[in-house]
Amino acid sequence: RVRQKLVVGNWKMHGSLEANGGLLKAVAAGAGALQPVQLAVCAPFPYLAQCQSLLAGSPVQWGAQDVSAEARGAFTGEVAASMLAEFGCQFVIVGHSERRTYHAEQDSVIATKALRALEHGVTPIVCVGETLAQREAGQTEQVVGRQLQALLDALSVEQLGRIVVAYEPVWAIGTGKTASSAQAQDVHAYLRGLVASRDAGVAQRMQILYGGSVKPESAGELFGMPDIDGGLIGGASLKAEDFLAIGAAGR
Ligand code: G3H
Repeated sequence: RVRQKLVVGNWKMHGSLEANGGLLKAVAAGAGALQPVQLAVCAPFPYLAQCQSLLAGSPVQWGAQDVSAEARGAFTGEVAASMLAEFGCQFVIVGHSERRTYHAEQDSVIATKALRALEHGVTPIVCVGETLAQREAGQTEQVVGRQLQALLDALSVEQLGRIVVAYEPVWAIGTGKTASSAQAQDVHAYLRGLVASRDAGVAQRMQILYGGSVKPESAGELFGMPDIDGGLIGGASLKAEDFLAIGAAGR
């Protein structure tokens, strides 16, 4: 296999010390059996220390859900990539549609966030995806293409080789409505083609994840598609049993 399957949980703004403790221990206990599928969880900032203490030495990696576009300084409430690295984060999600929608994040700031993460050896998982209105207007490729182009413009080939992309159609997030495996595959192939226009080798090695209402029942078919290299899992990542079952679908 050219690309390792990667299944990342995005907890969003859920969790508590107590609930996370059980979840992290269960995921860590089940992850070894799923190799070579790689599992990771992206937790709210205050829980990164808990992830580090419970997951260090396990096969499960961890990360955050956002990072500042600034390196340091007077930016109240922001969290720097260097801080994520200090807490052992392997990943950080950037440009999630919830950040784009509720915090007005633009393509250019998302690309800068990805750069900050890369500077500290943290892998950005860059999210792209169209709304339902955009899909119905036939604009899917145009929208995800523009979102990815911002990365292609800002990153060197070497840096592009160190990012993960997640395709998350906005209409499928938290709605119970999954894109069909064929719909997702079409977009993944399109995205990989765009990367290939910059560098064919990087495109071939790039992990492109699918996100949007992935459940244990739908994961197998999605992960079986040639350009789908795993998933970014919201709701179903909060239950160890479901998250591990989704991971198992990647084997
Ligand atoms: O980042 C994860 C996605 O937003 C998917 O969330 O699995 O709850 O639909 P969901």
